[in-house]
Amino acid sequence: MAGRLEGKVAVVTGAASGIGRASAELFVREGAKVVAADIDDAQGTELERAHGGSLVYAHTDVTNEDDIAGAIATAVQRFGRLDIMFNNAGAQGDPSPLTDITPDGFDKTLALLTRSVVLGHKHAARQFEAQGGGGSIVSTASAAGLQGNWSAAGYTIAKHAVVGVVRQAVTELGPKGIRSNAIAPGIIRTPIMARSFGVPLEKAEEFSAFLDEKLGPDQPIGRLGVAEDIAEAALWLASDASAFVTGIVLPVDGGATSAYQGTFATAVVDAAKEFTETRLV
Ligand SMILES: NC(=O)c1ccc[n+]([C@@H]2O[C@H](COP(=O)([O-])OP(=O)(O)OC[C@H]3O[C@@H](n4cnc5c(N)ncnc54)[C@H](O)[C@@H]3O)[C@@H](O)[C@H]2O)c1
Repeated sequence: MAGRLEGKVAVVTGAASGIGRASAELFVREGAKVVAADIDDAQGTELERAHGGSLVYAHTDVTNEDDIAGAIATAVQRFGRLDIMFNNAGAQGDPSPLTDITPDGFDKTLALLTRSVVLGHKHAARQFEAQGGGGSIVSTASAAGLQGNWSAAGYTIAKHAVVGVVRQAVTELGPKGIRSNAIAPGIIRTPIMARSFGVPLEKAEEFSAFLDEKLGPDQPIGRLGVAEDIAEAALWLASDASAFVTGIVLPVDGGATSAYQGTFATAVVDAAKEFTETRLV
């Protein structure tokens, strides 16, 4: 049976870890050629080695416009075209509350989480137009892009703005056959949790398991998410199976944003404190 992305070419940013990595690997299994764009050269190179000719790693800092354009150029040079742009790279950014945020910290957070998505749209749409056809853009927003109190101020604001990018893209790019959708993950077991709370990366899985133990039972669906839960949603939005879908922000959160109003920020912070005090001594 043909894969769901047979013949398609994708750029996936943040592909060296977590959601991006699971998505890049799923896209390849479904027949796509993938440019894995990231700043983690060690993991990116290892990913390329594991996937032979179907995936190439391109060092890409998504806060740099030339790098984003370069990742798309790599897709065209190596695989002949671009069909899917997955704007996914991210990190927590400035963790300050509103009362302490600095212009520089705020700007850097927006550059990483929002401007990268804007520029991903810009360069992917230009390439789609140059090819004379449509394409699919998928962006990783967050439950923190739908409600307050899931994360720090900068992150929450930046992810809400990703929703704005998608809605604007509908009107500007829809008539050109270009779709744009976002995914709003809830709490997903990836290394971003360890990176956000200063837990060493070799303890990332243990930390994720700890968070799952503490917070999973409170989720409507009884567990935290895994990267593959998001990869499956990205696959559907990237593929022709969602051909009539554009402008949506799809929560993939075990029901959390339907049930709660962003009560996880404090729960995660408390659990991270407990982990650090009991497991990292
Ligand atoms: N894990 C969660 O709970 C969760 C929830 C909601 C949204 N998200 C979002 O999902 C996306 C992926 O996060 P993840 O959970 O897989 O985290 P992760 O830390 O496992 O992966 C993030 C990847 O992005 C890369 N990256 C960071 N800065 C970059 C830059 N400037 N340029 C290029 N690459 C860069 C990292 O090297 C890493 O490979 C992010 O946008 C994040 O905000 C995650």
